[in-house]
Amino acid sequence: MNHPTPKATSRQWRGVIREYADRLDVTDATPVVTLGEGGTPLLPAPALSRRTGADVWVKYEGMNPTGSFKDRGMTMAVTKAVERGAKVVICASTGNTSASAAAYATHAGIKAAVLVPEGKIAMGKLSQAIAHNGELIQVQGNFDDCLDIARDLAENYAVHLVNSVNNDRIEGQKTAAFEIVEAHGDAPDFHFIPVGNAGNYTAYTRGYREDLAAGNSTRIPRMFGFQASGSAPIVRGEPVRNPETIASAIRIGNPASWELALAARDETDGYFGAIEDDKILEAQRILSAEVGIFVEPASAISVAGLLERAEAGAIPAGARVVLTVTGHGLKDPQWALRTADGSDVQPTVVPVDTAQIAAVLGLTS
Ligand code: F0G
Repeated sequence: MNHPTPKATSRQWRGVIREYADRLDVTDATPVVTLGEGGTPLLPAPALSRRTGADVWVKYEGMNPTGSFKDRGMTMAVTKAVERGAKVVICASTGNTSASAAAYATHAGIKAAVLVPEGKIAMGKLSQAIAHNGELIQVQGNFDDCLDIARDLAENYAVHLVNSVNNDRIEGQKTAAFEIVEAHGDAPDFHFIPVGNAGNYTAYTRGYREDLAAGNSTRIPRMFGFQASGSAPIVRGEPVRNPETIASAIRIGNPASWELALAARDETDGYFGAIEDDKILEAQRILSAEVGIFVEPASAISVAGLLERAEAGAIPAGARVVLTVTGHGLKDPQWALRTADGSDVQPTVVPVDTAQIAAVLGLTS
């Protein structure tokens, strides 16, 4: 049968490489591997604006194909790997990178090997890596051990590393800043973002810097990054040997992009802060219940960080603030079912009876 080749129309988002081809290291001959990542919603958050007095917007990166911002970097990393002839990519991961690497590799017809800390990644992410035919290896150590081994393997064996120490990842991820500047006509005053390896913090700073240099914006936002208190090496100024937090995505004790992140902070008059787990869960709930955006705990740290900084008087009234929320809530849904005192939410059970249900709901006829 003879069908025309589908054309991406002007209404169809073409993925970050095609959308930003002129600002990435690609040519017409580059074999683009895309699942349609990027073009994510930038949404107003009136409930957060009311709480803080700032003008707050949320960049909802959970809306990427595998449910996290990693897809922006992975489209570039896997594309460039294929361009260079790689047959296997490898990464260490707290979950999201493994899901993304497995999906993009399999789409490209190559293999992904993923190293994850045993028993320490969220169920949704584990399922994704396996569903996408990743070679999933559970390592009896933490994320930092996994990254050391992944780097070792990439140096000594025929595998291509797709962690964010690979500059292609950072290049792809910088496109989120481009989208924000395009949507708002300028960069915000402040940008809040979760920090694990600090690759994304570095990527946004690069994107904003390039937009300023290109004349697309008049400023670079102050970059505010947040780590969980039990896993806050950059804030503490030294590696954390046994990082602990319920925000498993950012349970990282020795960030790969530490130096780059400090440089980015200094360049943007930025800030790194630490947030307790209970504040992360509180912020997750505010975002889901008051704004309508469901994110995984690591992502909610952007919200918690904003609330903490606003409380501290560090955010002027009316300042334009963008929060990146990095991963979808469905990745790690268990936390939403917990009440503040740690017990499980018990949904009301009723018989098949309209009147009783109306009574439970407090409805009047
Ligand atoms: N948010 C989520 C949901 C993440 O999965 C990660 C990192 C971050 C924030 C932090 O980004 O490392 O660039 O500072 N996840 C990696 C992974 C480590 O393996 O999925 P970063």
